[in-house]
Amino acid sequence: MSLIGEDDKPANTLKESVLNEEERILAYNQINKMMKRLYKEARLVHGDLSEYNILWHQNQCYFIDVTQSVDIGDQLAYQLLQRDCENITDFFNKLRVPGILLPEDLFRTISGVDVEEAEMLLKKDSSVVTYVPSPMTSPVKNVERRKS
Ligand SMILES: Nc1ncnc2c1ncn2[C@@H]1O[C@H](COP(=O)(O)OP(=O)(O)OP(=O)(O)O)[C@@H](O)[C@H]1O
Ligand SMILES: [Mg+2]
Repeated sequence: MSLIGEDDKPANTLKESVLNEEERILAYNQINKMMKRLYKEARLVHGDLSEYNILWHQNQCYFIDVTQSVDIGDQLAYQLLQRDCENITDFFNKLRVPGILLPEDLFRTISGVDVEEAEMLLKKDSSVVTYVPSPMTSPVKNVERRKS
């Protein structure tokens, strides 16, 4: 991956950047879409997403530190996605961005599953939860539980 920045100087993280109101809304909407794409297209959850692991460069957000991201079928995926959603929501709430989603609503729009439903699925079966990837249907419909 090439350097995101200018003249060999890396771009600031979102934490370090000073965004005006319009830019804050833009960044929030971009992140929302990027989290969805990561989940639905790459079938990954970042797992350590926060203002410290997002760069802001030329009006565009970039996720970094993606090496610890997990497959959406991973046992920890829902938990990590929940934390990612909370981090992002907290950050933009502190910046007083209007009309942002609650973390649980962000979680649902990304995963297609309610937080409670996800927690129940994990509690109900402590053995492996496997999601059979299928581009035709949502992951919810493809949950298979297997006893270890
Ligand atoms: N400006 C940048 N352009 C391209 N890739 C970057 C840039 N900054 C960071 N990265 C990538 O993201 C990875 C993680 O960077 P980061 O600054 O989060 O370091 P870190 O070691 O994870 O620190 P921390 O534990 O504090 O998050 C780097 O190893 C690099 O691959
Ligand atoms: Mg980092």
